Amino acid sequence: MSKILLTAALACCATGFGQPLRDRADAHHVKIGTAVNPAALANEDYAKTLAREFNQVEPENAMKFGPIHPAAETYNFGPADQIVAFGREHKMAVRGHTLVWHNQTAPWVRELDPEHLAAAMHEHIKTVVGHYAGQVYAWDVVNEAFNDDGTPRKTVWSVNPGYIEQAFRWAHEADPKAILFYNDYSAEAMNPKSDAIYKMVSDFKQRGVPINGVGLQVHFTKKGQPIEQIEANIKRLTDLGLEVQYTELDIRLPVDDQGAASAEDLDIQAKMYGQLVAACLKFPKCTAIQLWGFTDRYSWIRGTYRGFGAGLPFDASYKPKPAYDAIAAALK
Ligand code: XIL
Repeated sequence: MSKILLTAALACCATGFGQPLRDRADAHHVKIGTAVNPAALANEDYAKTLAREFNQVEPENAMKFGPIHPAAETYNFGPADQIVAFGREHKMAVRGHTLVWHNQTAPWVRELDPEHLAAAMHEHIKTVVGHYAGQVYAWDVVNEAFNDDGTPRKTVWSVNPGYIEQAFRWAHEADPKAILFYNDYSAEAMNPKSDAIYKMVSDFKQRGVPINGVGLQVHFTKKGQPIEQIEANIKRLTDLGLEVQYTELDIRLPVDDQGAASAEDLDIQAKMYGQLVAACLKFPKCTAIQLWGFTDRYSWIRGTYRGFGAGLPFDASYKPKPAYDAIAAALK
């Protein structure tokens, strides 16, 4: 091997990276995305890895109702704008998350009677979607509106019957070009919750309510969900003409006090990531594979699920884990 080639080879493999995930994903016409924490963008390793590997970003919290609309007359677009700017600079698509959800709402919303609540929801959607029109290509319009048994979740918003449909109509008015998603968890496989979602979105399609897709969050443990069932669910949704996207993929593992998982579990996790990516690629209308963060340094898992962590394809030092290789291989 010539000296130049050898140097090039070392440069490539000293970092452990071959072709970045985003280039592989482009070849499949699928987006590979991640949730982003604006505070982390100042970290050089974080920003470099993000720009190199992903072609889609979504604010992990910065566009939620509470953070972006903390008081009736106050909008705080700064942190989300930072993520949008990063995305544009690095030619990444930007997803918006989320307009109507029962968590992380602003306290002032909880004091409104149904009529004022509906008006606040309208104004919020109009302002936020309007602010990002032409920059955010897809919105999670309504998030987590069903219980696991398929019944509608009772929330601050559900006092207004028809609020889900109304939210989609108002989002479409605010940006007719944006594609609009219903997003939920534990609805990846065939079960009462995914059945209820299927029923709702079938009805929306039939009646011309502007909906374009269903987001599957995919927050899994190593137990996962049967992959054939996930494929069956993606099939029935895409057969309606809807897009499907994985929106919040992570696979949490039992970890020690240092946050380390066993080698065996990391391999199980890698296989699962590979299978999930391959399942999406089977369907032309499965259009994005988005992770809920990419490095174990910034992940909601350890703060939310005691004893769990290590859910993402890069470790806390930005080194790729077996999961990274499995995603790359599935996107070959
Ligand atoms: C989580 C964030 O990751 C945390 O930082 C925050 O404290 C709580 O919300 N489903 C969703 C996401 O739709 O918005 C949630 O994100 C995780 C579950």
